[in-house]
Amino acid sequence: MRDYKIAPSILSADFANLGKEVTDVVNAGADFIHFDVMDNHYVPNLTIGPMVCKSLRDYGIKSVIDVHLMVCPVDEIIPEFSRAGADFITFHPEATNHVDRTIKLIRDNGCKPGLVLNPATSVSVLEYCLDQIDMVLLMSVNPGFAGQKFIESTYDKISDVREMIDAINPSIRLEVDGGINLENIGKAAKCGADTFVAGSAIFNSKNYTSTISQMREIIAKS
Ligand code: DX5
Ligand code: ZN
Repeated sequence: MRDYKIAPSILSADFANLGKEVTDVVNAGADFIHFDVMDNHYVPNLTIGPMVCKSLRDYGIKSVIDVHLMVCPVDEIIPEFSRAGADFITFHPEATNHVDRTIKLIRDNGCKPGLVLNPATSVSVLEYCLDQIDMVLLMSVNPGFAGQKFIESTYDKISDVREMIDAINPSIRLEVDGGINLENIGKAAKCGADTFVAGSAIFNSKNYTSTISQMREIIAKS
């Protein structure tokens, strides 16, 4: 069985109680904390930055923090997120002029780089850099908001990227983000995803522990 990870997106958490919300979701079994950074420029929404990431570390959060940058430009914010305690930093290739340079910048700052592919972005963007990254994040919605509907064409894309990853280095994480819930997580796992972002499906549920355990059970059976 693959090394599956559940990554609740704090975009759907109660921001007025963020430290407690993240603690609760970690105690409920979250593996990664998915941290959505939006700039009201690359995407039509505005969220949180490095200061909030550092606050979570200062609050005592030890989990892997998976920073998903939906910002343009990208490079300036990378050293700040590294100092703030980020582990993975993923970015959209459309948001930077020099993808290879940005990947190296993340690595040089001691973090794990990843590329994010929007629903209409071709997997060909991975061809000359897959060996340099630690994660491919496939968007299964258009980035910008929680609570959107999973785009079905993502399943085929997951299978395609799984093949590419297995041919190079199976330890590269294949993460899927957007509209993941108890109905579709099994099929996403079957197609080859190993890391599952879920915002509203977890934070809008009554019992985080039970939702995360159900997700794990479904994935295990897939
Ligand atoms: C969307 C974000 C997602 C989002 C997921 O732009 O990247 O991480 O918060 O939320 P759900 O799981 O509700 O689609
Ligand atoms: Zn995200």
